[in-house]
Amino acid sequence: MFGGHTLLARPRRAASAWLRLEGVTRNTVHDLDAAFPLGCFTAVTGLSGSGKSSLVSQALIELVGERLEQAMTAEDADASPIEDMPARTNGRVATGMEAVHRLVKVDQRPIGRTPRSNLATYTGLFDHVRRLFAATPEARRRRYDAGRFSFNVAKGRCPTCEGEGFVSVELMFMPSVYAPCPTCHGARYAPKTLEVRWHGLSIADVLGLTVARACEVFAEEAPVLRSLTVLDDIGLGYLRLGQPATELSGGEAQRIKLATELQRGQRGATLYVLDEPTTGLHPTDVDRLLGQLNALVDGGNTVVVVEHDMRVVAQADWVIDLGPGAGADGGMIVASGPPEVVAANEASRTGPYLQRELDVR
Ligand SMILES: Nc1ncnc2c1ncn2[C@@H]1O[C@H](COP(=O)(O)OP(=O)(O)OP(=O)(O)O)[C@@H](O)[C@H]1O
Ligand SMILES: [Mg+2]
Ligand SMILES: [Zn+2]
Repeated sequence: MFGGHTLLARPRRAASAWLRLEGVTRNTVHDLDAAFPLGCFTAVTGLSGSGKSSLVSQALIELVGERLEQAMTAEDADASPIEDMPARTNGRVATGMEAVHRLVKVDQRPIGRTPRSNLATYTGLFDHVRRLFAATPEARRRRYDAGRFSFNVAKGRCPTCEGEGFVSVELMFMPSVYAPCPTCHGARYAPKTLEVRWHGLSIADVLGLTVARACEVFAEEAPVLRSLTVLDDIGLGYLRLGQPATELSGGEAQRIKLATELQRGQRGATLYVLDEPTTGLHPTDVDRLLGQLNALVDGGNTVVVVEHDMRVVAQADWVIDLGPGAGADGGMIVASGPPEVVAANEASRTGPYLQRELDVR
């Protein structure tokens, strides 16, 4: 789905409309006007301290978030954690709000705070899997419903560990440690629940499958396969379905969030904001991330990334370069336009690096 062709030169997309911010004042950004093309991939560049995060992660998110606030559902508020962010931005959104219905900030923070959340539950594929188990002849005979196959519901889970698979052990003079549950040995379920099999597997066996293996096992189950395929496509075939959300790496968490967005079905009109999303990623993973982001833009959405990696900037539709310097010497837009235009701008300190990248493409 996301091949290695993402970095090939492609026609730049044209703005469907413009999201215009006016009079933005935040940290060292002072009374700035900025325009982001909707339906495009925009990269915001500039020296460290030039004001990229102030403009994008703070001002853009706060101003757009404020306008969306009443319209936002609880689910969306959760997908875009913009709490802990008192609005200290001055400025306004002058145009473009009619084409932005949703705001999602995608970062490398964990996808869940407790080990009860995992890949299978977060992506929603576990709901389908539980229904498959409830539909087996054995489950129907016993009148087990889908809830019986949840480790978050009392009736089917292991009573000792309450479905966690491990128990906390108090040690004198030491912080408590987690040990596998002595009753279920990590299976998380009551023995009765595990007796029900779907294609020879218990529900605990399913949680132990890797994404790649699960793609084979659920090949005939379209709704499950859809989630699995997206995860496999972004290189996460090696993860286990039951891997706790808290154990995922930052880059993994970020790609899972985007995969979940991609499989929501494209409603379009969502603004995705990412601040240095490629930090710590291998070039292979950067390509995968770009594949995901471009797929979102092709689905009628808008992506704005703060980015230092010129490979990412060179493939953007639009670049906003901040500067000229850092701190009080920054906070202004030095150049903006397609990558070729910013690269050719002599005032831009990003220009020469961007030109070098454009030359090798
Ligand atoms: N809460 C704050 N209060 C006052 N000044 C701040 C605050 N946050 C950032 N600054 C200052 O504003 C300037 C721009 O910071 P900002 O975080 O926007 O930079 P940046 O371009 O994102 O840099 P980097 O690439 O290092 O992330 C910096 O000089 C910074 O010290
Ligand atoms: Mg920053
Ligand atoms: Zn247990």
